[in-house]
Amino acid sequence: MTWNLVADLAEFEDSPVLAREIGGVSLALYRVDGAVYATQGLCTHAGVSLAGGEIVEGYIECPAHYGLFEIATGRAQGGPVCRDLATYPVRVEDGRVFVEVAVDGA
Ligand code: FES
Repeated sequence: MTWNLVADLAEFEDSPVLAREIGGVSLALYRVDGAVYATQGLCTHAGVSLAGGEIVEGYIECPAHYGLFEIATGRAQGGPVCRDLATYPVRVEDGRVFVEVAVDGA
């Protein structure tokens, strides 16, 4: 596992959800109440990018069929989703956001 620089905190000013791809791994980054979280980037229902979704009280609502996942835990909470999202450890240092994820060749 490697800590990867994935974003700058300032990037959340434009959107509370960011899409990233690191070493072939698709991620969604969220800023919720001052904290940053990372989950897999694609919904477990039909593979739609969660970065186009909306954050509602700590949950991400998938833009395709409105499935809900708890952002902090990745737990599937309702709608057509029944498989949880993978989550990744996040570290913020000097306004830079790092996510721990295994990348190809690392
Ligand atoms: S693709 Fe996310 S709920 Fe269907």
